Amino acid sequence: MANGLSENTFAEPNSGDRAAVDLEERNPTFRSMDESTEQQWREIGRQTRDNQSGTPIAILEMLRSLISVVDGFAIDQLGHSLQTATRAERAGADEEMVVASLCHYIGKAISVANHPRIAAEILRPYVSDEVYKVIPTHQDFQGRHYYRYFGLNPESRSQYSAEPWFELGEKFADEWDQTSFDPDYSTESLEHFEPMVTRVFAKPKAMI
Ligand SMILES: [Fe+2]
Repeated sequence: MANGLSENTFAEPNSGDRAAVDLEERNPTFRSMDESTEQQWREIGRQTRDNQSGTPIAILEMLRSLISVVDGFAIDQLGHSLQTATRAERAGADEEMVVASLCHYIGKAISVANHPRIAAEILRPYVSDEVYKVIPTHQDFQGRHYYRYFGLNPESRSQYSAEPWFELGEKFADEWDQTSFDPDYSTESLEHFEPMVTRVFAKPKAMI
């Protein structure tokens, strides 16, 4: 049209366009990052911080789902996680280590094959480096108790012997984790650990 307005300028947007318009009215921001402004990133940061309270809720939901993962063990993987965390707490482990013990199998909610790394990366921004390192390596420590059945080196843990977290890794694997498949142990409930999960996942120590 001669005045520069297209025929569609005043037309009702179709449903896809309407969704985009609604989104823009609620949250006016960029469509590609190279159009972004500092103010928009500040707003994204503010909303991200506001939504952080959803992280502990999501963690608890993933933990609950482990009740359906049994895979031939004497107890389901939620029970194993709770029992491991209970033993850690009763042994006087700090809160981050108790929560890491609770979450060390959380990756099994998604994929057994790489569960140690999934759990470790979920925990990483929220716990000390020492606690983080225990989780992706825990199977090599556990190996002393079962690797012989898979033709693997039962002393795989020795590769970490110079690490400052080696002793914690041994305690986790030998005293809290490998012992926690006992249906008769007096295990604490998930509700017992909820306040700890909420505190540890309240705020990342660092963005990774
Ligand atoms: Fe375990």
